[in-house]
Amino acid sequence: MKERIDLSKVPKHIAIIMDGNGRWAKKHGKLRALGHKAGVLPVREVSEAGSELGVEYITLYAFSTENWNRPKAEVDALMTLLVSSIKKEIKDLKKNNIRLQAIGDLSSLPSISQKTLREAIAETADNDGLTLVLALSYGSRYEIVNAAKKLAVKLKNNEISEKDFTELALSNELYTSGIPDPELMIRTSGELRISNFLMWQLAYAELYFTDKLWPDIRKNDLYEAIYDFQNRERRFGKTSEQL
Ligand code: FPP
Repeated sequence: MKERIDLSKVPKHIAIIMDGNGRWAKKHGKLRALGHKAGVLPVREVSEAGSELGVEYITLYAFSTENWNRPKAEVDALMTLLVSSIKKEIKDLKKNNIRLQAIGDLSSLPSISQKTLREAIAETADNDGLTLVLALSYGSRYEIVNAAKKLAVKLKNNEISEKDFTELALSNELYTSGIPDPELMIRTSGELRISNFLMWQLAYAELYFTDKLWPDIRKNDLYEAIYDFQNRERRFGKTSEQL
């Protein structure tokens, strides 16, 4: 599959909703936390595959604001997994020239998670290959409301006027400021929803859904999604003939 990809048309930014860890665990008679643990290898696989193809950004929906409502034991297991995975993977992130970033309400994470993240982000800050963005305690509506509030404050303080209240100005107040919008969004496990993920940024993204559960995802699945993306016609509101 990799050979069929046109390297001149690889999406710059791919967003991924990693779904199906719980169902994977159930299918294999394991605890849900072990489903999440099995979800770490695919993170590695897609990061490496994306890196090799020259993808610039991959954003992973690792924990939504709604995920705080899960049983405490599962939330704790996910936070512990996050810290241990980052610690374990940091050497390879550096080796593969991958830069780590995070978006979301990071201040709501346990302090040890915040510290590990901060350190890993600082340690990989000079890497100029793929940027791996972890969406943690992330919610798109919250992000948009927050951005609008920041503009409102600037307006009130006369730092900007009403005419400056543009799409670009709002984009610049989002967590993703400076990151190009995703061109491709992948969701695993057969669910056909956006689930409050990058709703502003995904306005023109191609959506790709696979029935595979996240822990079963490997490099080839990313190649398939990119190949599918390359065979779509992206019209941005124009007609086929205008393109
Ligand atoms: C959704 O599956 C998955 C999550 C809420 C967590 C994703 C986290 C990982 C893959 C862990 C590794 C991440 C990093 C960044 C090291 P679900 O629990 O909603 O599955 P279900 O719908 O089958 O119950």
